[in-house]
Amino acid sequence: MTHVSIIGSGNMGQAISSVVARGGNTVELFNSTDKDKPVTGDVVILAVPYPAIDQVLADRADQLSGKVVVDITNPLNFETFDSLVVPADGSAAAELAEKLPDSKVLKAFNTTFAATVASGQVGEVPTTVLIAGDDADAKAQFAGIVSAGGLKAVDAGPLKRARELEAVGFLQLTLAVGEKVAWTGGFGLV
Ligand SMILES: NC(=O)c1ccc[n+]([C@@H]2O[C@H](COP(=O)([O-])OP(=O)(O)OC[C@H]3O[C@@H](n4cnc5c(N)ncnc54)[C@H](OP(=O)(O)O)[C@@H]3O)[C@@H](O)[C@H]2O)c1
Repeated sequence: MTHVSIIGSGNMGQAISSVVARGGNTVELFNSTDKDKPVTGDVVILAVPYPAIDQVLADRADQLSGKVVVDITNPLNFETFDSLVVPADGSAAAELAEKLPDSKVLKAFNTTFAATVASGQVGEVPTTVLIAGDDADAKAQFAGIVSAGGLKAVDAGPLKRARELEAVGFLQLTLAVGEKVAWTGGFGLV
């Protein structure tokens, strides 16, 4: 059993929390009023908007040392909805890994809308969580948590694949905003 901390109790934090608990793992949720409550999980999921990451690190970087830290953000320019705000050859996850050299950083859950995390389905196919990271044990541990909770987990490669995952997440968001796909749908893996 793994104890999982989720920072951010919005749409994604709550949906992922249900998945974690369904798999028999324990979970604690934090929001922005819980700054003084330390995280106790071995796996910490950052389910906050990208611009809030630096605040979370300012509050808790020392608490994340040695832990598996999962970045689920889509670092969009929310003013234009027309680009990512990270360099084209980088990613939010790469930035995070640089800021947390003593943590095992993974990218996951950024290509799955919250409704599909909750339902476990994208149309007719099971919701797939694509996981990128450089630490094989951390990836396997997190894939186990995801699959125990009823979703499909797929190893998408090293952390440098986060760049492509964030591009996919960005494209999916623009399709949903443009009403080309429902927020209950999105990309599936068959
Ligand atoms: N929604 C989706 O379908 C989806 C899909 C894939 C990826 N994502 C990504 O998932 C992340 C969360 O999205 P969401 O839709 O769940 O957002 P949301 O519903 O707006 O929830 C955001 C949560 O972050 C918390 N928060 C903000 N700043 C914080 C801080 N400094 N410390 C602790 N908690 C803080 C908020 O707490 P308060 O309410 O107390 O401010 C709130 O609980 C985003 O990065 C988004 O890009 C979302």
